[in-house]
Amino acid sequence: MDARAEECCEKGDTTPPLELIEKTPIGGLHNPYNDEIDAVAETGHKIYLSYSCNGCHGGGGGGGMCPPLTNDTWVYGADDDTVFRLIAEGSDKLQEQGYTRVRKEIVTGPMPPFGNIAKTSDDLWKVIAFIRSKNPSSMKNVATPAQTPGQ
Ligand code: HEC
Repeated sequence: MDARAEECCEKGDTTPPLELIEKTPIGGLHNPYNDEIDAVAETGHKIYLSYSCNGCHGGGGGGGMCPPLTNDTWVYGADDDTVFRLIAEGSDKLQEQGYTRVRKEIVTGPMPPFGNIAKTSDDLWKVIAFIRSKNPSSMKNVATPAQTPGQ
Protein backbone atom coordinates (compact mmCIF):
# COMPACT_ATOMS: atom_id res chain seq x y z
CA MET A 1 0.00 0.00 0.00
CA ASP A 2 1.49 3.38 -0.92
CA ALA A 3 1.71 6.43 1.29
CA ARG A 4 -1.19 8.17 -0.38
CA ALA A 5 -3.48 5.26 0.44
CA GLU A 6 -2.47 5.48 4.11
CA GLU A 7 -3.62 9.07 4.15
CA CYS A 8 -7.11 8.37 2.91
CA CYS A 9 -9.62 9.51 3.90
CA GLU A 10 -10.38 12.94 5.27
CA LYS A 11 -13.38 14.41 7.03
CA GLY A 12 -15.37 16.83 4.92
CA ASP A 13 -13.99 15.35 1.68
CA THR A 14 -16.07 16.71 -1.20
CA THR A 15 -14.52 14.33 -3.75
CA PRO A 16 -17.29 12.36 -5.48
CA PRO A 17 -17.19 8.72 -4.22
CA LEU A 18 -16.39 7.20 -7.61
CA GLU A 19 -13.48 9.60 -8.06
CA LEU A 20 -12.09 8.68 -4.64
CA ILE A 21 -12.33 4.99 -5.55
CA GLU A 22 -10.56 5.70 -8.83
CA LYS A 23 -7.51 7.13 -7.10
CA THR A 24 -7.37 4.82 -4.07
CA PRO A 25 -5.93 1.31 -4.30
CA ILE A 26 -8.02 -1.54 -2.93
CA GLY A 27 -7.69 -1.60 0.85
CA GLY A 28 -6.89 2.11 1.08
CA LEU A 29 -10.29 3.53 1.98
CA HIS A 30 -10.74 4.23 5.71
CA ASN A 31 -13.64 5.98 7.39
CA PRO A 32 -12.35 9.21 8.98
CA TYR A 33 -15.28 9.07 11.43
CA ASN A 34 -14.47 5.72 13.03
CA ASP A 35 -13.47 7.43 16.29
CA GLU A 36 -16.67 9.43 16.46
CA ILE A 37 -19.38 7.15 15.16
CA ASP A 38 -21.98 8.38 17.64
CA ALA A 39 -21.36 12.03 16.80
CA VAL A 40 -22.16 11.63 13.09
CA ALA A 41 -24.63 8.70 13.21
CA GLU A 42 -27.71 10.91 13.22
CA THR A 43 -26.54 12.95 10.22
CA GLY A 44 -25.65 9.66 8.52
CA HIS A 45 -29.12 8.33 9.19
CA LYS A 46 -30.70 11.39 7.53
CA ILE A 47 -28.52 10.90 4.46
CA TYR A 48 -29.37 7.16 4.47
CA LEU A 49 -33.07 8.01 4.41
CA SER A 50 -32.60 10.70 1.75
CA TYR A 51 -31.01 8.09 -0.57
CA SER A 52 -33.91 5.68 0.13
CA CYS A 53 -31.57 3.00 1.44
CA ASN A 54 -34.42 2.28 3.86
CA GLY A 55 -36.65 1.16 0.97
CA CYS A 56 -34.56 -2.01 0.78
CA HIS A 57 -32.71 -2.25 4.10
CA GLY A 58 -35.34 -0.85 6.47
CA GLY A 59 -35.36 2.49 8.33
CA GLY A 60 -33.02 1.29 11.05
CA GLY A 61 -30.98 -0.94 8.73
CA GLY A 62 -32.56 -4.10 10.10
CA GLY A 63 -33.44 -5.42 6.66
CA GLY A 64 -36.61 -5.73 4.69
CA MET A 65 -36.68 -7.09 1.19
CA CYS A 66 -32.87 -6.93 1.28
CA PRO A 67 -30.15 -8.07 3.68
CA PRO A 68 -30.06 -6.53 7.17
CA LEU A 69 -27.09 -4.25 7.86
CA THR A 70 -27.32 -5.01 11.55
CA ASN A 71 -26.25 -8.67 11.62
CA ASP A 72 -22.80 -10.25 11.53
CA THR A 73 -23.11 -11.58 8.00
CA TRP A 74 -21.40 -9.34 5.43
CA VAL A 75 -21.69 -10.58 1.89
CA TYR A 76 -18.40 -9.13 0.61
CA GLY A 77 -16.80 -8.14 3.93
CA ALA A 78 -17.45 -5.64 6.73
CA ASP A 79 -14.34 -3.48 6.34
CA ASP A 80 -14.54 0.20 5.34
CA ASP A 81 -12.88 -0.28 1.99
CA THR A 82 -15.23 -3.02 0.79
CA VAL A 83 -18.40 -1.40 2.16
CA PHE A 84 -17.58 1.99 0.59
CA ARG A 85 -16.93 0.34 -2.78
CA LEU A 86 -20.10 -1.75 -2.57
CA ILE A 87 -22.35 1.22 -1.83
CA ALA A 88 -20.75 3.44 -4.49
CA GLU A 89 -20.28 0.87 -7.26
CA GLY A 90 -22.96 -1.72 -6.56
CA SER A 91 -22.70 -5.53 -6.63
CA ASP A 92 -22.34 -5.98 -10.38
CA LYS A 93 -19.34 -3.67 -10.65
CA LEU A 94 -17.70 -5.29 -7.62
CA GLN A 95 -18.11 -8.74 -9.13
CA GLU A 96 -16.68 -7.53 -12.45
CA GLN A 97 -13.55 -6.61 -10.51
CA GLY A 98 -13.28 -10.09 -9.02
CA TYR A 99 -15.11 -9.70 -5.71
CA THR A 100 -17.21 -12.71 -4.76
CA ARG A 101 -19.96 -13.26 -2.21
CA VAL A 102 -17.91 -14.70 0.67
CA ARG A 103 -20.89 -14.97 3.03
CA LYS A 104 -24.47 -15.86 2.34
CA GLU A 105 -27.23 -13.49 3.41
CA ILE A 106 -30.90 -14.36 3.82
CA VAL A 107 -31.65 -12.66 0.49
CA THR A 108 -29.44 -12.74 -2.59
CA GLY A 109 -29.66 -10.00 -5.20
CA PRO A 110 -27.67 -7.12 -6.60
CA MET A 111 -27.13 -3.90 -4.68
CA PRO A 112 -27.56 -0.90 -7.01
CA PRO A 113 -24.72 1.65 -7.32
CA PHE A 114 -25.06 4.92 -5.39
CA GLY A 115 -21.83 6.55 -6.50
CA ASN A 116 -23.68 9.03 -8.69
CA ILE A 117 -26.41 9.69 -6.14
CA ALA A 118 -24.09 10.33 -3.20
CA LYS A 119 -22.60 13.75 -3.96
CA THR A 120 -19.56 13.58 -1.74
CA SER A 121 -17.37 10.93 -0.14
CA ASP A 122 -18.06 12.67 3.16
CA ASP A 123 -21.78 11.88 2.84
CA LEU A 124 -21.01 8.21 2.20
CA TRP A 125 -18.66 7.94 5.18
CA LYS A 126 -21.40 9.39 7.40
CA VAL A 127 -23.88 6.82 6.08
CA ILE A 128 -21.35 4.09 6.86
CA ALA A 129 -20.90 5.58 10.35
CA PHE A 130 -24.68 5.30 10.82
CA ILE A 131 -24.50 1.61 9.79
CA ARG A 132 -21.64 1.07 12.31
CA SER A 133 -23.74 2.70 15.03
CA LYS A 134 -26.40 0.06 14.39
CA ASN A 135 -23.81 -2.70 14.15
CA PRO A 136 -20.81 -1.94 16.40
CA SER A 137 -19.42 -5.48 16.15
CA SER A 138 -18.85 -4.86 12.44
CA MET A 139 -15.90 -2.64 13.46
CA LYS A 140 -13.74 -5.63 14.47
CA ASN A 141 -11.73 -5.75 11.25
CA VAL A 142 -12.68 -2.38 9.91
CA ALA A 143 -9.26 -1.66 8.41
CA THR A 144 -8.63 -5.13 6.96
CA PRO A 145 -10.24 -5.85 3.61
CA ALA A 146 -12.03 -9.20 3.58
CA GLN A 147 -10.91 -9.69 -0.02
CA THR A 148 -8.42 -7.89 -2.25
CA PRO A 149 -9.08 -9.00 -5.82
CA GLY A 150 -6.30 -8.38 -8.28
CA GLN A 151 -3.66 -7.82 -5.60
C1 HEC B 1 -32.92 -1.74 -4.49
C2 HEC B 1 -32.61 -2.21 -3.16
C3 HEC B 1 -31.43 -1.60 -2.45
C4 HEC B 1 -31.19 -0.28 -2.13
C5 HEC B 1 -32.03 0.93 -2.49
C6 HEC B 1 -29.99 -0.27 -1.35
N1 HEC B 1 -29.49 -1.53 -1.20
FE1 HEC B 1 -27.86 -2.08 -0.13
N2 HEC B 1 -28.07 -3.99 -0.74
C7 HEC B 1 -29.10 -4.47 -1.53
C8 HEC B 1 -28.86 -5.88 -1.83
C9 HEC B 1 -29.75 -6.77 -2.66
C10 HEC B 1 -27.67 -6.23 -1.17
C11 HEC B 1 -26.93 -7.56 -1.24
C12 HEC B 1 -25.90 -7.44 -2.36
C13 HEC B 1 -25.35 -8.74 -2.90
O1 HEC B 1 -25.64 -9.79 -2.37
O2 HEC B 1 -24.58 -8.64 -3.89
C14 HEC B 1 -27.21 -5.03 -0.48
C15 HEC B 1 -26.10 -4.97 0.33
C16 HEC B 1 -25.72 -3.89 1.09
C17 HEC B 1 -24.67 -3.88 2.07
C18 HEC B 1 -23.86 -5.09 2.49
C19 HEC B 1 -24.74 -5.88 3.48
C20 HEC B 1 -24.23 -7.23 3.88
O3 HEC B 1 -24.95 -7.91 4.64
O4 HEC B 1 -23.14 -7.63 3.46
C21 HEC B 1 -24.59 -2.61 2.56
C22 HEC B 1 -23.62 -2.10 3.62
C23 HEC B 1 -25.59 -1.83 1.89
N3 HEC B 1 -26.27 -2.64 1.02
C24 HEC B 1 -25.82 -0.49 2.13
C25 HEC B 1 -26.75 0.29 1.43
C26 HEC B 1 -26.85 1.72 1.54
C27 HEC B 1 -26.02 2.59 2.46
C28 HEC B 1 -27.85 2.10 0.68
C29 HEC B 1 -28.27 3.51 0.34
C30 HEC B 1 -27.21 4.35 -0.15
C31 HEC B 1 -28.38 0.90 0.07
N4 HEC B 1 -27.67 -0.18 0.53
C32 HEC B 1 -29.42 0.89 -0.83
C33 HEC B 1 -30.16 -3.73 -2.00
C34 HEC B 1 -30.32 -2.37 -1.87
